[in-house]
Amino acid sequence: MSRLVIDPITRIEGHLKVEIQVEDGAITEARCTGALYRGLEEILRGRHPLDAQRITTRICGVCPLAHSTAASLCLDDALGLSPPRGGQLLRNLIYGANYLHNHVLHFYHLALPDYLPAGALPGALSPGTDEDRRFSQQEANRLAGHYLEALAVRRKAQELVALFGGKMPHDMAIVPGGVTYRPTLGEVAAFRFRLKEIMGFIETSYIPDLLLLAERYHDYFGLGQVGKLLAYGCFPLEGERLFPAGVVLGGELVPFDPGEIREGFAHSWYSGDGPQPPWAEEAPPAPDKAGGYSWIKAPRYRGEPCEVGPAARAAVGLRAGTPEFRELAQDILREADVPPDALSSAMGRHLARGMETLFIARAMESWLSQLDLSAPVATEYRIPQEGRGQGLAEAPRGAVGHWIEIKGRVIAHYQVIAPTTWNASPRDEAGKPGPIEQALAGTPVSGDGVLEAGRIVRSFDPCLACAIQ
Ligand code: NI
Repeated sequence: MSRLVIDPITRIEGHLKVEIQVEDGAITEARCTGALYRGLEEILRGRHPLDAQRITTRICGVCPLAHSTAASLCLDDALGLSPPRGGQLLRNLIYGANYLHNHVLHFYHLALPDYLPAGALPGALSPGTDEDRRFSQQEANRLAGHYLEALAVRRKAQELVALFGGKMPHDMAIVPGGVTYRPTLGEVAAFRFRLKEIMGFIETSYIPDLLLLAERYHDYFGLGQVGKLLAYGCFPLEGERLFPAGVVLGGELVPFDPGEIREGFAHSWYSGDGPQPPWAEEAPPAPDKAGGYSWIKAPRYRGEPCEVGPAARAAVGLRAGTPEFRELAQDILREADVPPDALSSAMGRHLARGMETLFIARAMESWLSQLDLSAPVATEYRIPQEGRGQGLAEAPRGAVGHWIEIKGRVIAHYQVIAPTTWNASPRDEAGKPGPIEQALAGTPVSGDGVLEAGRIVRSFDPCLACAIQ
């Protein structure tokens, strides 16, 4: 038996340590450690409630829109606000642009080097190993060309956020009650032009490249599986959501009830008595705690570790989503020659990410055409003496939740549970491993396990800056 520590896992956001035990050619056990405590929930206590949006968007430079959105939904709930249709459309367009950036970044710049041959990319960008490389030289050259093109596509997606959101990262537009800014006709035209260019890249490069990867590495649909999936849903528009909320347990869709979320700390460096509901959580940091091995807490749904992210959104969407989503998802699953159950896997996550990139870009074209530049984009509000709210959304990498309690017109309690808190969580009170730990255990490996572990961990698109607050 050998024990291997990968610290840090590269080409993800933040500092994640993964420890694996390998025996008889397979990973028998894995542990995930989030190594950086943040303390933003503590910083928010006693501050003005509107600071929640401004400060939490700074949790992360990769997924800041997830936090400005979740914080604004949280305050909408606490303040009793319903943003007007114009505000909802603009929020969705700004947030959608962040998805396009994130998924192109993840596929080409974070995940693809795991599969490209050494020397395919210029200089230090190239992977350092030639193990298990299955692309022809011609295919590798084409993919490397798209890797470089994707840099310009990402810039355009960031410009989309900046056009309507003021800047990127840390937009200034998404606020309780709607958005702060109504774009001009010229800005809408600039947005449309860039969106069309990005759509062209998604259709002619990203999706075909993804399907080629899925064909060459079809066995990765059988690796890195979790199976229990949770989505909060996102992109609301007048009571409907582009992605519905739901939980898939044992292959069956179960209605989502946020009251079933608890966070545990048995193996996390906190001294709270867990598991606790997020709206009343008290868990001071305890860096020397015996039995602790991560700063990440262990959120569970009805006691179950659940995978969140594109595979969860697709699994729920295939069962309860719009006809447009179901048709697109079924087409792509058919082209990749896999059943819907294969989504929760190392390759399934890439497939789910690609299908939703196309779906969101199409939805953005529709939202853009529905903008009325003379309609209101925000509603008025006043800060109540007391209030409580929850804001549930979907970051590109999965379900994100914010919870606030207001007392004396200031924040009395603030809680963030981010996607990677779910996915990279450690063992819980019942000893159940977190989703990435589960995905790694049982994986057959050809060498020391670094190659397979890296591919599986990166398929979750972890973001450690978000995971620990
Ligand atoms: Ni993040």
